[in-house]
Amino acid sequence: MRLLKYLHQPVYAKRLEVLSGMIASHLREGDGVLDVGCGSGQLGRAILDHPSRPSKLTVEGCEKFRRGDELIPTLQIDGHSIPAADGEFDVTILADVVHHEEKPDLLLKEVVRVTRRFVILKDHVPEGFLAFQRICFIDWAANSPYGVKCLYRYPSAAEWRRKFTSLGLEVVEEITSIDLYPPVLNVLFGKRLQYFSVLEKINQA
Ligand SMILES: C[S@@+](CC[C@H](N)C(=O)[O-])C[C@H]1O[C@@H](n2cnc3c(N)ncnc32)[C@H](O)[C@@H]1O
Repeated sequence: MRLLKYLHQPVYAKRLEVLSGMIASHLREGDGVLDVGCGSGQLGRAILDHPSRPSKLTVEGCEKFRRGDELIPTLQIDGHSIPAADGEFDVTILADVVHHEEKPDLLLKEVVRVTRRFVILKDHVPEGFLAFQRICFIDWAANSPYGVKCLYRYPSAAEWRRKFTSLGLEVVEEITSIDLYPPVLNVLFGKRLQYFSVLEKINQA
């Protein structure tokens, strides 16, 4: 496991660089951001350190399984309820979290509740040759060193879009191929296996 962790580090560093830039470009001055399932908080930290982020910004995290050494202020949650008021956070982030959740619809509904403007989602989709097998491998390799349970369930982009509609979310930006990892690994595990969308909360009457 230590070798896997060591090999994963440069892959994770590239992922942080790419994802933090994609997220930072959607943030506005004064935003309060909640990174749901923040893990070690490295993504939140990378957003705060990103050169193109707004100058006034807060990023907090919440996590079902706290690791104890998070790089951003992190609240322990039970996984399905977030102790925050409706619309308390301008932006919420779910980066490779939903496919680890046994009851994804409960989590998504709660995240939408505490969001004011955007939910930003990054996940995997099974697109392309042996896609399911390739995602399972990268999911296992990235998570088993940290004890994060893999369920190996990945909705397609069409399934994601149906979920967004039922949650009252409108797609503002959707990226269905991401150069997320270093070369070579990116061809095997990046590109069309990676899914990113920025979802606007539509005010319901
Ligand atoms: C693959 S890690 C991603 C960590 C971080 N978001 C990132 O991008 O680096 C998935 C994390 O989601 C957390 N998680 C899964 N289900 C959750 C839930 N319902 N509520 C909060 N955290 C959850 C797991 O404990 C794990 O730390």
